[in-house]
Amino acid sequence: MNPTMKKIIIANWKMNPATPKEALRIFSVIHKETKSIKNIDVIFTPPFVFLPLLKQAKLGAQDVFFEKSGAFTGEISALQLKAYGITHVIVGHSERRAMGETEEIVQKKLKTVLESGLKAILCIGENERNREEAFPVIMRHELHSALLKIKKSALRNLIVAYEPIWAIGTGHAETPEHAFEITILIRRDLYKIAGRSIASKIPIIYGGSVASKNAVSFIKDGGMDGLLVGGASLRAREFVKIVKGSSEVQK
Ligand code: 13P
Repeated sequence: MNPTMKKIIIANWKMNPATPKEALRIFSVIHKETKSIKNIDVIFTPPFVFLPLLKQAKLGAQDVFFEKSGAFTGEISALQLKAYGITHVIVGHSERRAMGETEEIVQKKLKTVLESGLKAILCIGENERNREEAFPVIMRHELHSALLKIKKSALRNLIVAYEPIWAIGTGHAETPEHAFEITILIRRDLYKIAGRSIASKIPIIYGGSVASKNAVSFIKDGGMDGLLVGGASLRAREFVKIVKGSSEVQK
């Protein structure tokens, strides 16, 4: 954990909630309770259709297409996101990879996001709980392949999210201690790829069954620069606890 880095907590709502009314309700509760917290960047990544609703939020998108414009039915470009004031984009979430997003697509999307001046939240993580072997291999595939064609200077806008797939939505989070070990591996590789001065400033965050009962420990003991929260970010009071607890760690 870089103590001088402002922590980032991302509410990834995935394909929820069902209505704009409910989206506004959840957001209003969270915003009211957390807007005065200055040492945490709270970013909301709602479904695309709700982005214009959450005008007061710092916003991210859950995905983007890699072409600038044209005949790509159903897709949304980085320029369009920028025009809406969106600052962050999740790239390569395991749920998208499971739907067929290849490493090549992730690479193109990451390049597009970073070259557009948006911040990319690149998700990497292993499928099975196989501590010794799985993660270094996955990292080589996912981290290295995603960063292959990216200029070093563009990596200033990178955030790496370690999201072990087996921990997503299961209620079985990684332990903060093991997550800490993984961040050391990630950081070491980032140093090799980007050089010390850039790599030391790339936030590494954790996602996978984050809740109010473990969030603080991920920041404190896991050395995380932030959290990527799924299910718990839709439960307004629970998410407020996560943000408030994390903000206390830094005081
Ligand atoms: P959960 O917090 O629901 O496990 O989801 C994590 C995630 O995938 C965030 O992107």
